[in-house]
Amino acid sequence: MRSRNVASAAIAGLVAVALAACGSNTQTGDNGNANAPTTPLQTTSGGAGGDVGVFTWWAAGSEKKGLDALEELFKQQYPNDKFVNLAVAGGAGSNAKAKLASDLQNNQPPDSFQGHAGAELMDYIDKSQIEPVNDVIKALGGESVFPKDLLDRLTVDGNIYSVPSNIHRANVVWANTAVLKKAGINEVPKDLKAWMADMDKIKASGVATPLSVSGTWTQVQLFENVLIADLGVDGYSGLFDGKTKWDSAEVKQAVADYKKLLSYANTASDGDDWPVATDMVIDGKAAYNVMGDWAVAEFNDKGKKQDQDWTWFATPGTDGVFDFLADSFTLPKGAKNPGGTKDWLMLIGSAEGQKAFNLAKGSIPARTDVPASDFPAYQQGAMKAFKEDKIVSSIAHGAAVSLAWNADISTAISKFYASKDENGLVSDLAAAAKKNQG
Ligand code: GAL
Repeated sequence: MRSRNVASAAIAGLVAVALAACGSNTQTGDNGNANAPTTPLQTTSGGAGGDVGVFTWWAAGSEKKGLDALEELFKQQYPNDKFVNLAVAGGAGSNAKAKLASDLQNNQPPDSFQGHAGAELMDYIDKSQIEPVNDVIKALGGESVFPKDLLDRLTVDGNIYSVPSNIHRANVVWANTAVLKKAGINEVPKDLKAWMADMDKIKASGVATPLSVSGTWTQVQLFENVLIADLGVDGYSGLFDGKTKWDSAEVKQAVADYKKLLSYANTASDGDDWPVATDMVIDGKAAYNVMGDWAVAEFNDKGKKQDQDWTWFATPGTDGVFDFLADSFTLPKGAKNPGGTKDWLMLIGSAEGQKAFNLAKGSIPARTDVPASDFPAYQQGAMKAFKEDKIVSSIAHGAAVSLAWNADISTAISKFYASKDENGLVSDLAAAAKKNQG
């Protein structure tokens, strides 16, 4: 079980205690009373009826395909309910999160919203904006179908606050095979230095911007990849519990490496969304893009085939590490149709829902009982990596830091994009940590 001030600790150390509190009939009840048994979930066949407004940022293009798959199944399984799509465009919730915050503040919550497992979810829990969904998790099978360590990230004081839909990996380089071939590159670079040497070769072969980037949150994600490469798993995870200093020599090295990487990249506008950068790889205008594995959906959408058109590898220096994030869905306090929300959550958490959603989204199921053989090669590899690799939490996608801390890091990264002032970035990052670390 997690208490309210350890939200961003690394997954591994948290597992054991977590589920002792949330898998049995001593599970916490809806009011946070650890001794109250969970009231069994009440459902109506065909659904509770009424509108179910679902808030996400999966509004367009390949992002929307996963949501569409869920909507389709929801219609079939809950014909009494009406799915209302409240999506707000902008990758990583870059626009959606501000709208959500104001709707929650004004007591106008949707019936369910997308939130990241980990520190971000804690924000909503701390503000008492979401309700426990212990009954839904229990009805879905609890720890017999969800990984214990993942449930832990959704749990506070014995209550589970959301239903996980998927797991994404954020430390992946997507590459255009033809561009690599033309530059004579046929090996995966083992570290950042080797990777940058390959970028020199790619430049020499005629591609001016070997690496593609988009708006600020994609830069935060790229920087987090460099931090993992330069600090290692323990050093990186220590950034969130105070064990690693944000102005340490290792972070300074990461800032220098990040600056050098940007020198190989295109010029992005603040608001460019991620498909702009991924499409540069698809179109051969860049060799590489560091992106979460929602990129798989973009390659599929554009009819591109793994190995033939694109390939992937863990960001150099992070092999054997899985930079983790998970989307999950909530029951907001004051939701107009809690019965309909629970129908939605049951669909999100079902094996059928997870298969349909993740096949379209590029992610892997949060459930452990959806057969790997139902998925294409990339996702089969990601499932294996999630089991075997060391897990770290993504900064850009709400697993490692709170919304406020993420906003401060994003401001610092955006400023750096213009200034390229290394000392300035280090001191902004250190100030952000001091302000936000609990
Ligand atoms: C992440 C989210 C992913 C994907 C990505 C790009 O924050 O967890 O599911 O949507 O943003 O928008």
